[in-house]
Parts: sequence; C-alpha cells; structure tokens
Amino acid sequence: MKTASLLLALGMALAAPAFAAEDLTQPLPPRDAKWSFEGLFGTYDRGALQRGFLVYKEVCAACHGLNLVAFHDLAAPGGPGFTVAEAKAIAAGYKIPAEPNDRGDIFDDKGNRLTRPGTLADHFPPPFANDEAARANNNGSLPSDLSLIVKARQGGPNYLYSLLTGFNLKVPHGFAVADGKYYNPYFPGRAIAMPPPLNQGSVSFNDGTSATVTNEAKAVVTFLTWASEPELEARHRIGLQVLAFLVLLAGLLFLSYRKVWHGKKEE
Ligand code: HEC
Repeated sequence: MKTASLLLALGMALAAPAFAAEDLTQPLPPRDAKWSFEGLFGTYDRGALQRGFLVYKEVCAACHGLNLVAFHDLAAPGGPGFTVAEAKAIAAGYKIPAEPNDRGDIFDDKGNRLTRPGTLADHFPPPFANDEAARANNNGSLPSDLSLIVKARQGGPNYLYSLLTGFNLKVPHGFAVADGKYYNPYFPGRAIAMPPPLNQGSVSFNDGTSATVTNEAKAVVTFLTWASEPELEARHRIGLQVLAFLVLLAGLLFLSYRKVWHGKKEE
C-alpha cells in the first residue's frame, strides 16, 4: 500500500510539467532545422546563399539594412559565389547617397538627395535615412540591421528560421495581441511588430527551387548566417588541417618511439 501511493506520487510529480499550462510570457525554444554549415566540416550551400540574397534584396531590404556587407563580398571566397562581373552589376543596381557635387551640394533643386550607382566598394545602403524615419514607417518599432543578427541572437539560425516560419499560428486562448502586432511564439513577448514578411511566391528563384515559405526562410537564413560569419569556411578548413597535422605527428612520434626502443630489453 505504502509503495503504491509512493509510486503514484512520483508518477504525478514526473507528469506534472507536461500538463502544466504553457507559459505565454516566454517564447518557445527555436525549432532545430538542419544546416549545411553546421559541424566541423560544414560549408555554405552556394545555391541557398544566392537564393537568400534574392530574398533579402526583394523582401527584407525594404525595412532592414545590411550595412556591414559590401558588394565585393558577394564575390569573395567562402561567400555566395557571384562572379566579380555579377557583383558589379548587382552594385550598379543600387542608388547610393552621392558625395557632394562640384557645387558642394548633396541635394538637387527639389531637395532630393543626390545619388549615384553603387560600386564594388560600397556597402548595402540602408532602407531609411535614420532610425526616426525607420520607426515612423514601422509603427514606432525599429527594424534592426541584419548584418550580425544571427550571431547576436540566442539560437542563431534556428531562431531566425523559427521566427520567419512562425507566423499565422493559432493565438492561444487568453493571449491578447496588441494593435499593430502579430502573434509569433518565437519572439520574446510573443508579439512582433513585423508583418509576416514571407509568403508563398514572395520571390521567384531562377534555379527551379519552389518559392515556399520554408524554402525562402531557409535561404535567407543561410545568407544572413554568412553575413554574420563570412570566415566560417576558412575557419573549418584550418581546423581540419590542424587535425590532419596532429594525426601525422602522432604517427611519426610513434614510429620514432619504436625505433629508439627497438631491441632494448625491459629491466
Ligand atoms: C515591412 C517591414 C519589414 C520587412 C519587409 C521585414 N521586416 Fe523584419 N522586422 C521589422 C520590424 C518593424 C521589426 C521589429 C519588430 C519588433 O521589435 O517588434 C522586425 C524584426 C525582425 C527580426 C527580429 C529581430 C530581433 O530583435 O530578434 C528579424 C530576425 C527580422 N525582422 C528579419 C527579417 C527578415 C529576414 C526579413 C525578410 C525575409 C524581414 N525581417 C522583413 C520590419 C520588417
């Protein structure tokens, strides 16, 4: 009898957390997606990097900057693998705030900011002139620069992926979403001021990949991970070379040990 009630109490104690009401003040832990750049041998998926650039350019860049990335990075080793000519053409498609002209002006007669086409040396231009303008266009919330976002957030790529694919879920009973916010259980506070940015067909990929929300999210997160960590592939390669060297060294040491002790009797 005693053991039976003891077992019952133990069972209830173990089961309790599973039945406890979900804590709606806490975000859900990010879902674990699989990434080609994970692990010791990880490299970026070039196709995903190029598709992700397209998603950033056509969707995210309307609100988010990427001010640590320069156009020449798009053609650098370990990156999206665009040719220098392609990177130049991409740069030229952007309008960069121009340096003062001959008259020392940076505005034209109508008060518009003078611009010039981008070059390889330029960085991605910000979508808004300043933080105030950015907030004014986004209901008072600031869309952060995405250059380092993957490194800056706990959960990194998995957090970003979960966030981007975590819209349009059923709002739990008893949870009130403030005006101008959207329910997203992966965002701290579970309500975010960003409207769901990705939809089926938001972009059209030219490599045959279908533009589903998950494919778009996977691609843009790969691209933003590279933006945060452009040296990842070089780092993995050096790690591997060091390991190979250590294995070789261990082998040589063993052989010389055998040679030195060959024929010597143990005392
Ligand atoms: C219409 C403007 C808009 C677009 C387009 C947009 N965002 Fe946002 N984003 C915002 C705003 C505003 C916030 C701030 C939300 C908040 O603070 O509640 C935000 C927040 C975020 C955050 C959360 C940052 C954090 O602090 O954790 C991430 C990540 C993000 N956006 C990524 C993206 C990506 C990737 C895209 C493109 C697929 C994108 N956004 C497109 C406006 C936008």
